[in-house]
Amino acid sequence: MELRIAAAPKNSEADCEGHMETVTTIKGMRSVVAGWRNQEATVGLVPTMGGLHDGHISLIELARKRVDRVIATLFVNPAQFSPNEDFDAYPRDEDTDLRLFKKAGVDLVFTPSIDEMYPPGHVSRVHVQELSNVMEGEYRPQFFSGVATVVGKLLIQAMADIAVFGEKDYQQLQIIRRMARDFDIPTEILGAPTVREDDGLAMSSRNRYLKATERSCAGKLYESISNVAKAVRRGTDPMAACSDATHFLTEEGFHKIEYLRVLDAETFRDYQGAGRPGRVFVAAWLGKARLIDNIAV
Ligand code: PAJ
Repeated sequence: MELRIAAAPKNSEADCEGHMETVTTIKGMRSVVAGWRNQEATVGLVPTMGGLHDGHISLIELARKRVDRVIATLFVNPAQFSPNEDFDAYPRDEDTDLRLFKKAGVDLVFTPSIDEMYPPGHVSRVHVQELSNVMEGEYRPQFFSGVATVVGKLLIQAMADIAVFGEKDYQQLQIIRRMARDFDIPTEILGAPTVREDDGLAMSSRNRYLKATERSCAGKLYESISNVAKAVRRGTDPMAACSDATHFLTEEGFHKIEYLRVLDAETFRDYQGAGRPGRVFVAAWLGKARLIDNIAV
């Protein structure tokens, strides 16, 4: 009798899975990175708060194409939640996240405790002026200083060649880019396209807050900003296009549209028309979920 053992096909998911290390201290992460640097390996960083979905995995895939070793971080950062937000309820499932990181081919996971990142006496905060004042900054005043502080720390701790962030959080991506530039952090900041569900809903850890009936109309958010982008491209006044889209979303059951705007994609000031990059941004509530999305004009 002949026994055949089939080799896993190339490029299958199984191919990605190698040895994955997990560290909880900054010292531990730096020592692994130092070992890699001795071997002249290039390094990428992918910060996350867990609750992983295909959007997160796409960032890891992009990093793996660009560098030899990938660090993913898993840290629900208390500094970016205000007291009335969902820090306690935020989805946490470390075992599942570690399994998904491993499957995606991550080499090192950094899972610091709150004390490791913010030991007693930690009083410094990073503020990225101007870009942080609009949109998310208007509705979540602590948010971007919390994000810039933790991401600044992670960038300095890892000293990676690249770090990857999603365009899903476009304002966050631009703020991180500006911070890295202003503080001369020698890590290239890469943006990755938004990964969406079949109906257009941008994947998000917070989508699990949606009830079934809400989920069935959540795709309208993407439809609304796509329509604004198309209308503006055809020459419709951005304010008029946004007002139509706001009306549409209200009729579809979104109960609070915090902002729906067409802005300059770099400065976040009013869109000046062709010749400048424009972007449509939206934040709206559907049931208990606050959803954000954006798309290029
Ligand atoms: P988190 O929401 O876990 O997102 C981690 C990274 O995944 C971010 O760069 C985010 O933009 C990206 N991402 C989320 N959904 C995506 C999607 N549908 N498609 C593509 N990328 C997506 O954003 C944070 O955590 C935190 O603010 C963090 C940067 C980790 C700092 O604490």
